[in-house]
Amino acid sequence: MTHPTLAEVLGQALGGIAGKRVLHVCTAEGGFIHALVEHLESYARIIGIDASLDAVRTAQCALDHEDIGFIHMDAECLAFRDESLDTVNLSFSLHHLADAPRVLGEMKRVLVPGGHAIISEMHRDGQTEAQLVAARIHQWAAEVDRALGTVHRRTHTHQEIVDHVDALDLCDVALYEFIDVDSDPSDAAAIEGVRGYIDRFMLRLRGASTDRALAQRGEELRRQLYQVGFQREPVLVVVGKKAYPRTQIAARSPGSSGPL
Ligand SMILES: C[S@@+](CC[C@H](N)C(=O)[O-])C[C@H]1O[C@@H](n2cnc3c(N)ncnc32)[C@H](O)[C@@H]1O
Repeated sequence: MTHPTLAEVLGQALGGIAGKRVLHVCTAEGGFIHALVEHLESYARIIGIDASLDAVRTAQCALDHEDIGFIHMDAECLAFRDESLDTVNLSFSLHHLADAPRVLGEMKRVLVPGGHAIISEMHRDGQTEAQLVAARIHQWAAEVDRALGTVHRRTHTHQEIVDHVDALDLCDVALYEFIDVDSDPSDAAAIEGVRGYIDRFMLRLRGASTDRALAQRGEELRRQLYQVGFQREPVLVVVGKKAYPRTQIAARSPGSSGPL
């Protein structure tokens, strides 16, 4: 049995959603917007926001399209009116947030009742040996970020992601899972790409920190990468709709005579 690729999982998760006014929270350089454009059934406009001005500027240069825009903004305090957006999306960023419940609460506030919330996040459960290499490298990169003053936590468990989303009290929730077991762990191009990722973090570490132990772990992980190989961490995609307030449900039900 072959497992679906990440693109196929995103296709299943997003394919039936008419995105209309879409907000992509923590967009970084806008990479995931390509997935939104490709997989959403349709959209009217996509706005990406990020707290990093450098990332927003890079995204603006990379994705110059009249229906796509980027704004420098803190996700803990979204500058959008209540219930003014039809779809909100957070991808691979939950473990980068200083206050995840607050950001998720803001995403819910700006979403219209009946609008879609889409949250994609890698998790650390049930991994193959080659996925564990990816997870260790990610964990080490997060420690380097923290040593240099950036919020970057250990990746969540599957259940921790579900708990975060549960707090949003969405309805019609569906879970989709990407598990990378079919890719070749010894694929040379993938390994060189990850080696480049480690090297970039090593360079940042060398320039700004004297933590020798952290640098040695980076070198050890580079060895493990070549010995064991690499497969991507599992990804959970959660899609749900913001529930209508009970009074609105009553008003929408045919034949209903008043608030429930
Ligand atoms: C892993 S990157 C995002 C990756 C991107 N979503 C993707 O799928 O390609 C995490 C991003 O979260 C941003 N971020 C963290 N906290 C934030 C906040 N409170 N408000 C806005 N952006 C934030 C960081 O600046 C960083 O660009």
